[in-house]
Amino acid sequence: MNKNTFKLGFWALILFGAISCDQSGSKLTDYWKSYSGDPKIEAKVDSVLSLMTLEEKIGQMNQYSANFAATGEVADNQSGEYLKKGMIGSTFNAFGAEKVHMLQEQNMKYSRLKIPMLFAADVIHGLETTFPIPLAEACSWDLDLMEKTARAAANEATASGVAWNFAPMIDMAHDPRWGRVMEGAGEDVYLASLVARARVRGFQGISDYNDLSKNNTLIATAKHFVAYGAAQGGRDYHTTDISEINLHETYFPPFQAAIEEGVGSFMTSFNDLNGVPATGNKWLYKDILRDSWNFNGLVVTDYTAIMELIPHGYAKDLKHAAQLSLDAGIDMDMISEAFVMHLKELVEEGSITESQIDVAVARILEMKFLLGLFDDPYRYCDVEREKEVMMNDGYIDLAHKAAQKAIVLLKNDNNILPLKKEESKRVALIGPFVDERKSLNGEWAIKGDRSKSVTLREGLDEKYAGSKVSFNFAKGTDLPLLDRKTEKVSVVNVPDRSGFAKAVSVARNSDVILVAMGENYHWSGEAASRSDITLPGNQRELLKELKKTGKPIVLVVFNGRPLDLSWEAKNVDAIVEAWYPGLMSGHAVADVLSGDYNPSAKLVMSFPRNVGQIPIFYNQKNTGRPFDAERPADYRSNYIDVENTPLFPFGHGLSYTNFKYSNLKLDKNEFSKGGSITATIDITNTGNVDGEEIVQLYIQDIVASVTRPVKELKGFEKLALKKGETKTIKFTINEETIKFIGLDMQPVVEAGDFNLWIAASSADVSNHLKFSYK
Ligand code: NOJ
Repeated sequence: MNKNTFKLGFWALILFGAISCDQSGSKLTDYWKSYSGDPKIEAKVDSVLSLMTLEEKIGQMNQYSANFAATGEVADNQSGEYLKKGMIGSTFNAFGAEKVHMLQEQNMKYSRLKIPMLFAADVIHGLETTFPIPLAEACSWDLDLMEKTARAAANEATASGVAWNFAPMIDMAHDPRWGRVMEGAGEDVYLASLVARARVRGFQGISDYNDLSKNNTLIATAKHFVAYGAAQGGRDYHTTDISEINLHETYFPPFQAAIEEGVGSFMTSFNDLNGVPATGNKWLYKDILRDSWNFNGLVVTDYTAIMELIPHGYAKDLKHAAQLSLDAGIDMDMISEAFVMHLKELVEEGSITESQIDVAVARILEMKFLLGLFDDPYRYCDVEREKEVMMNDGYIDLAHKAAQKAIVLLKNDNNILPLKKEESKRVALIGPFVDERKSLNGEWAIKGDRSKSVTLREGLDEKYAGSKVSFNFAKGTDLPLLDRKTEKVSVVNVPDRSGFAKAVSVARNSDVILVAMGENYHWSGEAASRSDITLPGNQRELLKELKKTGKPIVLVVFNGRPLDLSWEAKNVDAIVEAWYPGLMSGHAVADVLSGDYNPSAKLVMSFPRNVGQIPIFYNQKNTGRPFDAERPADYRSNYIDVENTPLFPFGHGLSYTNFKYSNLKLDKNEFSKGGSITATIDITNTGNVDGEEIVQLYIQDIVASVTRPVKELKGFEKLALKKGETKTIKFTINEETIKFIGLDMQPVVEAGDFNLWIAASSADVSNHLKFSYK
């Protein structure tokens, strides 16, 4: 069928639907609220729905991974059968304009009403152009950059057939053992909410178009709702038990921010939340998400999450699980086949109503209308656009900039860095990450071609070609790898010490040792929790041998989570946290090492001194017995074997220049209802090079009806300063800044006294004043 025939046929059906709908007199819009609020779209949804059989409706609520037609023909498995009945509403993991076109054609052939399929994917940090992992990118604190990389990812994804993205992941997390911290924006709710907004704006193209029907915009997904990041013990998929007030205070806000920004869909989380698994949690989805927050977009489950209600001990069988999820307000079933197998029977026996199904299907159809799929089901399948968009020079450049901005300089004693090109130096280049290529994109680099990412050695070779710096290489040791094929996850490729001697001898003949170590990319991401977050294998042992040479050591780490670098922080001279920087890894790290790029990133997640400190985050409560470093005493809230403070705190990150904070002032010391205070501070670049600084505003509500954290981030500004330059930064403090969640779960503003700091990190208390709210 050509496009025009399709359109005519389709609109004839709609007309018919509209007539039949008028005849029945009952309108879907009487009990369904649309996401768009657009009466024209509502009428169209109404019309299509009125033509659908119950089976067809249920089919729309059914989602598969794209394995049913991998070779071009409908496979003979169950998903293939549903496709032949036109009973698949959405498919994920299919890429490529041509392939998606082919799959859509098959769907159109079998769908009686010609309802287009919605193609989805996890485009987490770029499709083909791989940007740094989201946690790393968040360390840039550069919201504009995050919006741009999300936009680029969406542009590539939509050119590849994808119209629905399972991102951003906006789970709050305080536990670096949890491998999925790599996908989020760290530990702070204020910053994470802004990042959530930026990524939603970027994916959906809100700033540029605000129109999902463009062929380069797609639907973003706020996931995973909710508290998935609070898994007990940091073990993925584990239970969460969180007070309601803490949900409101810490775990909900990024999701509320995403809704305010216009996010089109939500994904459920796998975890049991306070005794009710999220995917069957009516309070969460109906009372909170739908009724309280008025979210009218589409809710999809996570992978097999309905089925998992059975082992959770919440549903007795798949039919029961289907009923519980539908009752909770879930619209689409990813993989479980619970809806497609059981909803009809549940309607027939009266356990659920057809109008419940109608509402879910309406939400799905509305998205398809908004995306323009009913006008042209192949609108995301333009092979020419795909060629133009994919990995274009602009995106490669953006990936390079994003990688530079994500790298955090954690330590730099005696200004050992940068290793300047014009200063003659023999550098011993050691470690498994010198030539490591595969890991550089990190996890969830869904279509990022790992063979294209630039290694550290390649970056250094290019950077220092013809300079006075020379490199001498020894790998020293290997990265241990995971074998997931065995029944138990086991470590394979256990490294030995056979490469140590050569590494030590290379190190002896050098002026400085540059070591590149880290985690293989499979060690973070989904189902990659660790109980020991030190450098895997014998990398630390190698460092200990290198240390014995007495030469200065610069350590570059590539990893997906905060690590326990306590030994390293004590024993090496400089630490560069590179994370997984993506496609342009080697170039970006070489830029930082050489000083061509002055590092500007700051941590968005605390680095613990050991796993025993976890969960660790800067905005903790004070307790009744706070530890006072000035007056240590017994029976205080502290460990007997480790300090309370993290190794590297939230907000920490060094530069090759220095910034002086001075002249902190408030225009007044108190404000009242409707008023505000302006805080100003001068920031001076006192060093020898230009640089960027992330200036942070923290407050503490000293006494409140609900105890408040020791400090909370309430604002920040990233500013560029030429050497010698001073700029005055201004922050406004108003009721928005001091409000918190009261015991009735509503925001409240209370009179009282507050501490205020404008600081270089969460641990910096040198610029402090007080103010009051009357
Ligand atoms: C499981 C993950 O938890 C989720 O984030 C992802 O979107 C789905 N799989 C689909 O790949």
